[in-house]
Amino acid sequence: MSPSMGDLDEDSIQAELHTDALGRSLQLLTEVASTNEVAKQAAEQGAPHGHTIVADAQSQGRGSHGRVWSSPGGTDLYVSILLRFGLKAVQLAPMTLAAGVAVAETVEAFVPLQAAIKWPNDVWLQGKKCAGLLAETSSQKGTTNAVVLGIGINVNRTHFEPELATHATSMRLAHPASATCNRSLVLAQLLNRTEHWLKLYNDHGLEPALGTLRAKLALKDSWVRCGAAQGRIIDVANDGALILQDSRTVHTLYAGTLEACPKPTCD
Ligand code: BTN
Repeated sequence: MSPSMGDLDEDSIQAELHTDALGRSLQLLTEVASTNEVAKQAAEQGAPHGHTIVADAQSQGRGSHGRVWSSPGGTDLYVSILLRFGLKAVQLAPMTLAAGVAVAETVEAFVPLQAAIKWPNDVWLQGKKCAGLLAETSSQKGTTNAVVLGIGINVNRTHFEPELATHATSMRLAHPASATCNRSLVLAQLLNRTEHWLKLYNDHGLEPALGTLRAKLALKDSWVRCGAAQGRIIDVANDGALILQDSRTVHTLYAGTLEACPKPTCD
C-alpha cells in the first residue's frame, strides 16, 4: 500500500482521475533523490505507459540545463510520468510544449489567474515561475526509448530561498486569497489534462496545442536574449521553435533559456 502524506493520498487521486493510462499505475513516495530517476529505473524494469511517480519531497530535484529544482516536502508536487509513445528525440521539445499547456491549464483550474507559458518549459504566474517541465529519455537495450516527463509545480509553498524569491512563485503565493490547494486534486487534474494534450500530440503533432500555446506565450513582443541571439519574441512556429526578430535577422530557436533584456539602443 502507498503511504499517505497529508493531502497527497492515493484514494483521493484515483477518485478524480479520468485517464486511460496516466496515473493508473501510481507510486507515491515520501522522499527520493529525483522522481525522474525513479521513473527511469521503472522504465528499465518494464513499467507500463503512464506509470507515474510522485514524491512528497526530493533531495536532488533536477531542473533543466543541470540546474537544481528546489523540492521541500509537504507543499508542492514532484511528478514523473513514463511515456511509451515511441517518440523520437526531436519530438521531445514540442511534446514538452504540449504538456506545458496541460500544466498551465491545471494551474488555472485552481487559481483565478492567467498562467503563461514561458518557452520552452516553464509556467509562469504573475511573471514568476510557478512550474517547470523536464523531459528525459530512458535508453533500453533493443526497444524504443521510453520518455520520462518530469513536472514540478509550486503549489502551496509560501517561502522560497533568497536566490529564488525574486523569480519564483507558487499557486498559493500568487493568489493568497485562495484556499490552500489539495495536492491530490491538483495532481489528478494534471494527469487528466496531460493525457488529453499528449494524446493529441501523439496523433496530430503540435498543431492542436498551438492556439493555446500562442495565446499563453509569456513575453510575447518583449525583447529577450537566448545565448548569442537577441530579439523581440514574434511567435512560436508550427514545429515549436521560438521566433525572435531584431532589425536585421529572424532567429529560430530550438532550445535555450530566455532572459528578458532591454531593447538595444542600436536596434
Ligand atoms: C525546470 O524548469 O528547470 C524543470 C524542472 C523539473 C522539475 C521536476 S520535479 C519532478 C521531476 N523530478 C526531477 O528531478 N525534476 C522534475
